[in-house]
Amino acid sequence: MKPTNSPKTYRVKSFGCQMNVYDGERMAEMLGERGIVPAPEGEDADLVVLNTCHIREKAAEKVYSDIGRLTKGKTQDKAPMIAVAGCVAQAEGEEIMARAPAVSMVVGPQAYHRLPEMLDKAVQGERATDTDMPAIAKFAALPERKRTNPASFLTVQEGCDKFCTYCVVPYTRGAEISRPYGDLVTEARKLVDAGAKEITLLGQNVSAWSGEDDKGHAVGLAGLIRDLAKVDGLARIRYTTSHPADMDDDLIAAHGEIDKLMPFLHLPVQAGSDRVLKAMNRSHTADSYLRLLERFRAARPDLALSGDFIVGFPGETDAEFEETLNLVDAVGYAQAFSFKYSPRPGTPAASMEGQVAKEVMDERLQRLQAALNRDQWAFNRATEGRTCEVLVERKGKHPGQWLGKTPWLQSAWFEGDVGIGDLVQVELVEAGPNSLAGRLREHVAA
Ligand code: 5AD
Ligand code: SF4
Repeated sequence: MKPTNSPKTYRVKSFGCQMNVYDGERMAEMLGERGIVPAPEGEDADLVVLNTCHIREKAAEKVYSDIGRLTKGKTQDKAPMIAVAGCVAQAEGEEIMARAPAVSMVVGPQAYHRLPEMLDKAVQGERATDTDMPAIAKFAALPERKRTNPASFLTVQEGCDKFCTYCVVPYTRGAEISRPYGDLVTEARKLVDAGAKEITLLGQNVSAWSGEDDKGHAVGLAGLIRDLAKVDGLARIRYTTSHPADMDDDLIAAHGEIDKLMPFLHLPVQAGSDRVLKAMNRSHTADSYLRLLERFRAARPDLALSGDFIVGFPGETDAEFEETLNLVDAVGYAQAFSFKYSPRPGTPAASMEGQVAKEVMDERLQRLQAALNRDQWAFNRATEGRTCEVLVERKGKHPGQWLGKTPWLQSAWFEGDVGIGDLVQVELVEAGPNSLAGRLREHVAA
């Protein structure tokens, strides 16, 4: 590659999970430190970071078609500089470098703190790949948080040791690591100083977070949440994503004790059949999952529940799929995510017998989603008439309209004299399938 001018503008495109959104923000901050600014809306950027996701379907193909779109009809000096980051970079970095000469940098999710050095090389015309997994070193090397949204993310834990047989995460994000307690309290304070009112603690397996508090005591996620709740100006705490095996008594109790911990739990179950769960290596049964939820609900009766589901795992029969529907009926989710099984290269399930036909998966997914949508709407209707606190996150579609989140993570829209970041009392007037129309109660604009 030829040496080129230093990029002046950037665009980070993040795909997939919230952890990628967090990583994307941190990469943007690093580029900002170098004086590179976000490309104005509608204009081409000098540097494009594709922050990719590898969890399902055709992730790599999507990257190649994005690269094609960015470079189509452009000579090398007109085309943007391209960095591929995220989990596809981790899993298929070498191949991307070989197949896509337009890519200057390939950087894995544990190595993106080295993006500035790689950029220097790229400007000299040198292509660079970094898919090391130094884990914790990354966070220490990132700049301080200075800008954020009212609802912010904070990665507290990365990686996963669970090895569910369908999942690439243990391979792309590596082994479980917990960021140190002190660093997290500091970053949370910085986020609040920068305007955050709500922080969602993120981890592939967030409930496995462990650390040592400032007194040297061993603490788990509940202890961390308790201490973060003491941060002045922080009004709401959430966490995601959890595995049923790591939910301890302390975390359950925390839901009943800490006002700032929102009444919402995202706890993926994946399937309702014990045979399928075993083949998935999930280490829980449908029944143990339901009993766990009962304990959470006993601690916090108005807890809203969310989950993840996979239909068409290899060998799943019609009767086994029905068990998933039965579990959905038993739980009554407030929201949920559901996916068709997608064989991920290198995972045990990809070579299992009994891969399910696409049409069968399509039909199962449709039925499951119909049930989940029905329950989500029912949950929304059950909150009609309540007045609750809403965190204003952005302007709505129409002038004077605002959009925010209820404690149960529902989207509520309403009109009134408020601003982004305000916490306001809103009466939930009319429930729709995906959101609620609300009415602002008395509010004195800040
Ligand atoms: N196929 C389909 N869905 C998957 N998920 C993870 N791996 C796969 C796969 N191979 C889903 C799980 C997980 C969510 C983040 O993505 O439901 O909880
Ligand atoms: Fe993947 Fe299972 Fe780990 Fe979740 S718990 S990240 S599904 S291996």
